[in-house]
Amino acid sequence: MLKNDASFINDCKEILISAEEIDAMTTRLAREIEDTYAGSPHPLVMVVILKGSMPFAADLMAKIKLPLRLEFMKVSSYGASTKSLGEIRIHLDLPQGDLSDTDLLVVEDIIDSGRTLSRLTQNLLNRNAHSVRTCTLLDKPSRREVDFVPDFCGTQIPDEFVVGYGLDYAEDYRNLPYIGVLKEEVYPK
Ligand code: IMP
Ligand code: MG
Repeated sequence: MLKNDASFINDCKEILISAEEIDAMTTRLAREIEDTYAGSPHPLVMVVILKGSMPFAADLMAKIKLPLRLEFMKVSSYGASTKSLGEIRIHLDLPQGDLSDTDLLVVEDIIDSGRTLSRLTQNLLNRNAHSVRTCTLLDKPSRREVDFVPDFCGTQIPDEFVVGYGLDYAEDYRNLPYIGVLKEEVYPK
């Protein structure tokens, strides 16, 4: 457990993306999302993947000038050893009901191997959503194990473990207002 004082703020060796840069990213992504969905006859439903996407989704939704509904999911993908590519563990699901009239926009904090979002997207398409698109704040393309390209992406980053703005290490650091790279001595590799 971290010491319960402000010293955790010094656990990053580098600020990779500042709060100002995040703000500019969410503004740009909101415009891209508006351009994609404006005029669609289907309700736009933002599906926030808990917990890491919460700050990103909150800032993003407030900048999207279109009618928008909000739902939450909590998911994890099975380990790399799992044979079936379609398997995903759903801890919190969308409300029961017909998805065939909805445009789903899945909002994720970061794409790493690509397993979580590729499986989740397939799962939602199998449930007949009218459309499923994905928006991620961060993407680490060098870590990909399955083919997956998000529809909207804040920025690509190198293969480094990052925390802040929703992203955690062992549930800590989510409340940092920027994306930082943890000092190596903070976590055992
Ligand atoms: P994927 O299925 O490998 O793409 O997993 C993506 C998930 O891994 C994210 O939702 C995060 O929970 C976690 N993750 C991957 N890279 C990082 C990181 O650098 N910091 C914090 N969490 C990460
Ligand atoms: Mg996550």
